[in-house]
Amino acid sequence: MNVTVRVNGKAYTMDVEPRTLLVYFLREHLGLTGTHVGCDTSSCGACTVLLNGKAVKSCTVLAVQADGAEITTVEGLARDGELHPIQRAFWEEHGLQCGFCTPGMMLTALDLLQRNPNPTDEEIRHGLEGNLCRCTGYQHIVNAIRSAARMMRGGAPAAAGGR
Ligand code: FES
Ligand code: FES
Repeated sequence: MNVTVRVNGKAYTMDVEPRTLLVYFLREHLGLTGTHVGCDTSSCGACTVLLNGKAVKSCTVLAVQADGAEITTVEGLARDGELHPIQRAFWEEHGLQCGFCTPGMMLTALDLLQRNPNPTDEEIRHGLEGNLCRCTGYQHIVNAIRSAARMMRGGAPAAAGGR
């Protein structure tokens, strides 16, 4: 079946098997391997992408269900060689360790900050509930999202580790 999508602003039309999951479509058909497969059962969030602006677990969506959609993956966050504020904040606040879950965390954070530009720490933690990271505590990730929120509202980033 033909699937036409825009991914990170670029249009693609591909012939896929109807059972192809969106995560495999992105990774194997489009070569966008920043979207990871952790659990394949909708638990870990490593496969999170934005589908028409909303964070979805791409291991639970068929590629054909995304026909006509606008998708953002981690590869689409940086623009013109400039890190997205969320990427910059994760860097500055040490919000990542092995990096496997980080792309999904960032896209979940982007969805959250688009809906709620000034979330409390509790709202950030609640927003991250569907994303598991096995190698770190969540405090640095929460700090990073708080700092990204500040940058995206037009403020200066907090000093690394700052509030
Ligand atoms: S691979 Fe999709 S939620 Fe884990
Ligand atoms: S950074 Fe999340 S599992 Fe390592």
